[in-house]
Amino acid sequence: MSDKTLIDLSWDDFDEHRDPRSNENQFDTVVEKAISRRGFLGGALAFGSGAAVFGTGLFSSTTLAQAAGHEKFAFEPIDIATDFEVHVPAGYAHDILVRWGDPLWSEANGAYSAETGVSVAMSDKVFGENTDGMELFDVDGKEVIAVNSEYVNPKINLPADSEGTPQSADEVTLLKNLQGVTVMEIARGDAGYQVVVDSPLNRRITHETQMVLSGPLAGHALVQTHADPEGMTVKGTMNNCGSGRTLWDTYLTCEENFNGYFGATGAEPTGESYSRYGIGGEGRYAYELFDPRYDISVEPNEPHRHGFVTEINPADPTSTPVKRTALGRFKHENAEMVHAKDGRVVVYMGDDERGEYLYKFVSNGVWEVGTDGGALLDDGTLFVAKFNDDMTGEWLPLTPETTGMEAAEILCFTRMAASAAGGTTMDRPEWVAANPLKVEAYCALTNNKNRGVSPNAGGDDTSVNAPNPRETNNYGQIVRWTPADENHASDSFGWDLYVMAGNPTIYDNAYAGSDNINPGNMFNSPDGMAFDSQGMLWIQTDGDYKNEGDFAGMGNNQMLVGDPESGEIIRFMTVPNGAEVTGLCWNLDKTVAFVGVQHPAGSWPDGNGKPRSSVVAVWREDGAVIG
Ligand code: FEO
Ligand code: CA
Ligand code: CA
Ligand code: CA
Repeated sequence: MSDKTLIDLSWDDFDEHRDPRSNENQFDTVVEKAISRRGFLGGALAFGSGAAVFGTGLFSSTTLAQAAGHEKFAFEPIDIATDFEVHVPAGYAHDILVRWGDPLWSEANGAYSAETGVSVAMSDKVFGENTDGMELFDVDGKEVIAVNSEYVNPKINLPADSEGTPQSADEVTLLKNLQGVTVMEIARGDAGYQVVVDSPLNRRITHETQMVLSGPLAGHALVQTHADPEGMTVKGTMNNCGSGRTLWDTYLTCEENFNGYFGATGAEPTGESYSRYGIGGEGRYAYELFDPRYDISVEPNEPHRHGFVTEINPADPTSTPVKRTALGRFKHENAEMVHAKDGRVVVYMGDDERGEYLYKFVSNGVWEVGTDGGALLDDGTLFVAKFNDDMTGEWLPLTPETTGMEAAEILCFTRMAASAAGGTTMDRPEWVAANPLKVEAYCALTNNKNRGVSPNAGGDDTSVNAPNPRETNNYGQIVRWTPADENHASDSFGWDLYVMAGNPTIYDNAYAGSDNINPGNMFNSPDGMAFDSQGMLWIQTDGDYKNEGDFAGMGNNQMLVGDPESGEIIRFMTVPNGAEVTGLCWNLDKTVAFVGVQHPAGSWPDGNGKPRSSVVAVWREDGAVIG
């Protein structure tokens, strides 16, 4: 396969191209299970532990919600869309806050060209491409957003004759600079919210920004390189997907598909520690041809220095970002931090790959309100989730005793530790969101075409299981759990499925979805999630937008709002065809929501030239609180 087609693959298909999965699952067993349940479930296939999966109130939720008459929803649901526009409910308005290529400093005014994009000289002075997770901070009364730029589309950013592959070190630098993180002050004026160009708080963090490693893996032989023989400093945070915020108001950026940036020009290291993470062969952007740091035949340990949760202080543009190794190394989606009842800090984290795991970190120390808790993130225990069929679950600690691995190895090769400990393989864990009004948390399991078909990259069985009950799951579901003793730090929980997406206009079995899915709110592939201060769950999708076949009636990607109590879910927003909706935060008075639109197609939002990933501001025309 040429580089041209390689770059056209989605990030999840990229891995399977490099490391094809064999159909090693005991397929006969899966079919047997499915058939044995068919009678019980009246035709539903591969339904896991069956109806027991659906928790309190879910099947009766529609009725309850209808009786409530949308009480908790301050808008009328909108229809699907298939066009190249953003749509919000009647009585709401929206505008662009910032687009890829917009200046953060006045020297970059006019840096973006509709024909050629952004030059390498200006590439670290503008808003990056493919916006993702974001959080808004109050910095001495100023509103500051920290926001990820997950990846770049090289066909949009490089000259047409390059066919999407960098031809020079300069072109690699251009791509490196348009990814990472942007910190930017915003302010509300007559024309609504705008970026404060030249604010001293503005900052770009790229694949080349100097950072430090902290936690038990820092200094270990596994993270030592030619440039950093001590294994303590590292350049860059990459493939910044979801986000999180600490209790002490710093930003957490989560490194997801970091593996795709590394390649080999010569003999490459082999073994499960590379194959499990999809590291090897050609890099997605040919970085390795122009920068030996990304060449694993030269620097086999460099990939061990990425795939972490990185902490950034948005209030201090001179601060050094810190890679928190104690939170483990995997394809981090987001990092949802909560203050447990016993005072410890808990961080929930998904590993977004088919058949990988859901994790949490629990600090050893307790956090005191008003203090900087950064050091708490260097000292604690990682756990992997195990979901039982009886709707209970356990957090299994990842320790030398449970994994047979050394403590530092557990943090570097966390996936292998989770397999050894016996976690439950999941349908691509994306964002985790914790309810601010109740001790419970939710994880979007976006989809998994390999469920019941082939194992994960470590060869772990991915037959249907209770929280992932459908084989070839193209729709996704959201699992939620309630920690024992109302303590997020406790080691057991009860769980149910909040929603199982599906298409009731096509199916009358498990693929129709749960009872809170109907022809009016259908969606697929839940991904981003955040709770607002009212305890409502905002759900963003990154799914199939063909609007045909299994996905007929679902339209473009969308953002919905769910009521955790009734189960009711209604559609708030649709984004342009081609785009996913990802990243959500609110301004300080919660009258404006900022929503990320990633990888739009057509020429949105300018109406001419290239499509530009953007952050959109959404508000109620009467100025009421919306979050
Ligand atoms: Fe970058 Fe799993 O989404
Ligand atoms: Ca995502
Ligand atoms: Ca996704
Ligand atoms: Ca994405």
